[in-house]
Amino acid sequence: MGRNSLQIADLQQKKMGFFNVWLVLLAPLATSALPVKPGDYSIQEVSGQFWHISDLHLDFSYHLTDDHTKVCLSSKGVNASSPGIFGDFMCDSPYGLILSSIQYIKTSTQKADFMIWTGDSPPHVPVNELSTKIVIDVIGNMTSTIRSLLPDMLVFPALGNHDYWPQDQLPVAGSEVYTAVAEFWKPWLSEEALRTFRKGGYYSQIYKSNGTSHPLRIISLNTNLYYSPNQEIGNITDPADQFEWLEETLKLSRQNNEKAYIIAHVPIGFLPFTILTTAMRDTFNEKLVKMFRAYSDVIAGQFYGHTHRDSIMVVLDEKDRPIGSAFVAPAVTPIKSASESESNNPGFRLYQYDTNCYSLKDLYHYYLNLTDANRRKEALWKLEYIMTKEYNIKDLQPESLQELIMRFQKPQSVDFQNYYKNYIVNFDTSEGCNDLCKKRQVCAIQHVDAHSYIECIQKHN
Ligand SMILES: *[C@@H]1O[C@H](CO)[C@@H](O)[C@H](O)[C@H]1NC(C)=O
Ligand SMILES: *[C@@H]1O[C@H](CO)[C@@H](O)[C@H](O)[C@H]1NC(C)=O
Ligand SMILES: *[C@@H]1O[C@H](CO)[C@@H](O)[C@H](O)[C@H]1NC(C)=O
Ligand SMILES: *[C@@H]1O[C@H](CO)[C@@H](O)[C@H](O)[C@H]1NC(C)=O
Ligand SMILES: *[C@@H]1O[C@H](CO)[C@@H](O)[C@H](O)[C@H]1NC(C)=O
Ligand SMILES: [Zn+2]
Repeated sequence: MGRNSLQIADLQQKKMGFFNVWLVLLAPLATSALPVKPGDYSIQEVSGQFWHISDLHLDFSYHLTDDHTKVCLSSKGVNASSPGIFGDFMCDSPYGLILSSIQYIKTSTQKADFMIWTGDSPPHVPVNELSTKIVIDVIGNMTSTIRSLLPDMLVFPALGNHDYWPQDQLPVAGSEVYTAVAEFWKPWLSEEALRTFRKGGYYSQIYKSNGTSHPLRIISLNTNLYYSPNQEIGNITDPADQFEWLEETLKLSRQNNEKAYIIAHVPIGFLPFTILTTAMRDTFNEKLVKMFRAYSDVIAGQFYGHTHRDSIMVVLDEKDRPIGSAFVAPAVTPIKSASESESNNPGFRLYQYDTNCYSLKDLYHYYLNLTDANRRKEALWKLEYIMTKEYNIKDLQPESLQELIMRFQKPQSVDFQNYYKNYIVNFDTSEGCNDLCKKRQVCAIQHVDAHSYIECIQKHN
């Protein structure tokens, strides 16, 4: 764990300096000196950046008190472990923790073009502690908090399985929650986007299109419709007609020479901490993976939340060639259940992309050492790692992730040890990841469809 944060801060400073100079030098070239015609995508590449936050899970009941079973409703009667003003590993986020994360973004020297927010605002509490009204209020509170601190930030949100009451039961044909949340998100989303959102909790919207670069389309999916505990779905094969819409959207994107980022709460693929379990229902996972493979020329990145852990996935085609990069951001909430031995420190990230074709170049991950923040009574968010530096890879393209996974597979791989440390966001533990744990992780990173995942699990037996 001996990470030297000063070294990292220094590294960041250097990188930032370099980055700024580079932008200043290239900007005039890109806009005037080079002969740029509409539709000419060969201009000099420039970096853009965007933030990604997920799983804020506000616990409005959090308060410090001597009876540790009463600190937060989200501990469900269990004693909080070491409660402080920024939270506890048995509890969802106090408001001050969430505020500190958005404040860090506000004061950061990193400049971002937009932010993605992959859902889950309400706390993990018994169903009768919440209601449709409370869930709507909490999503409204999180939206106002982000808007008041980052008034100029364009935010692309996605709904999470907790952004509904009762939790997980997101419906297929409109709801009070979809309608109310559409009102909150009006400042960020177009009328066209809000129309599909009110109907099924999903949308797509062009982020930028100015004739000299590919347009970028953000596609925000309601993958909660595919989440296993969602009883509303029954045997419907295309809940809320989202598959049909997605295929149509991707087809049009291809025709219009767009690139797309997929954002959603529940990720594709297999859960890395267990075996043979997809986050979505198997059939929906297969369908979605198939679609993402078919449109891998359009999709430049996939971004998820839900697991509360920091992980990557590479999408392979049927011939095992890497064709997609997917990222799961860890949570801002530090909560774990009483039966889990590991949790995550609060975290969020910033991605760098090529503004010409939207391919992903790098990832800066930030975290809060919760124990330390409570001790100091001050939330010192820090850069945890820079992905290309941490793993010595060229960029975040599918080929680079594939190369990294090959290294993970070696016995005693230091890259994998670092990956696992980042997976739990520097959570203090000596437990580590044994061979079985590693096998599950590696197979889940590399195989998002059932056939190849099972083959991987069997191969390593
Ligand atoms: C909480 O901690 C107190 C004090 O250590 C202890 O007496 C109590 O049994 C604990 N409660 C639970 C539910 O674990
Ligand atoms: C959000 O909720 C927190 C904690 O309950 C409260 O202190 C804050 O005033 C609320 N903010 C808004 C904008 O509703
Ligand atoms: C599937 O849905 C159809 C149409 O709503 C219904 O008639 C049928 O009973 C359902 N089957 C099962 C197994 O739930
Ligand atoms: C168009 O977008 C590209 C890429 O983001 C940028 O470099 C260029 O300056 C933009 N041009 C105009 C006229 O805004
Ligand atoms: C987090 O802070 C605690 C308390 O200051 C410290 O013991 C621990 O080593 C820190 N963890 C990391 C990963 O820096
Ligand atoms: Zn969550």
